[in-house]
Amino acid sequence: MDIKPLITAEEIENKLAEMGKQISVDYAGKEVLMVGVLRGAFMVMADLARHVDLACEFDFMAVSSYGASTQTSGVVRILKDLDEEIEGRDVLIVEDIIDSGLTLNYLMKSLRVRKPQSLEIATLLLKEGIQRVPIDVKYVAFTIGPEFVVGYGLDYAGKYRNLPYVGVMGQD
Ligand code: IMP
Ligand code: MG
Repeated sequence: MDIKPLITAEEIENKLAEMGKQISVDYAGKEVLMVGVLRGAFMVMADLARHVDLACEFDFMAVSSYGASTQTSGVVRILKDLDEEIEGRDVLIVEDIIDSGLTLNYLMKSLRVRKPQSLEIATLLLKEGIQRVPIDVKYVAFTIGPEFVVGYGLDYAGKYRNLPYVGVMGQD
């Protein structure tokens, strides 16, 4: 399978450094709980966190869409819930990609009822203009088109997550 590079490792590193600095400014004096959405966000979480100059804690959730459909249904199953209580805390969700927005929309709703002090989203990628639900994303590293991408945490059938860059899958 042929993969065409779209965003280089260097571009990702530079953008996450910028994002980390902005987060450090925005949350100055606060303790942030960064919540990575497994599995895709493991790489962006690790690299972004290195640029966040705050007292941080980390937690992870794992979610999966119901069924075998390649299209997200919006019905999300929580495979692994948070270990931490989030009531009264400043929570920053870290995602790899927002496509339809249905996964995060569901996640935000289910976390909001736990009454965090604040709840925001940082994502590496946002597919432009194709969200099926309005979603308020505070930090976006890169806006891309509707193409299916892999690498830097993102998979196709479980593979390619370890690529250090983001690429587009070829047709051959
Ligand atoms: P949603 O459509 O925003 O709910 O996205 C659901 C999930 O689909 C994302 O968290 C990713 O795990 C996955 N996904 C969406 N677009 C892509 C892509 O281009 N490459 C790899 N995974 C994707
Ligand atoms: Mg994901």
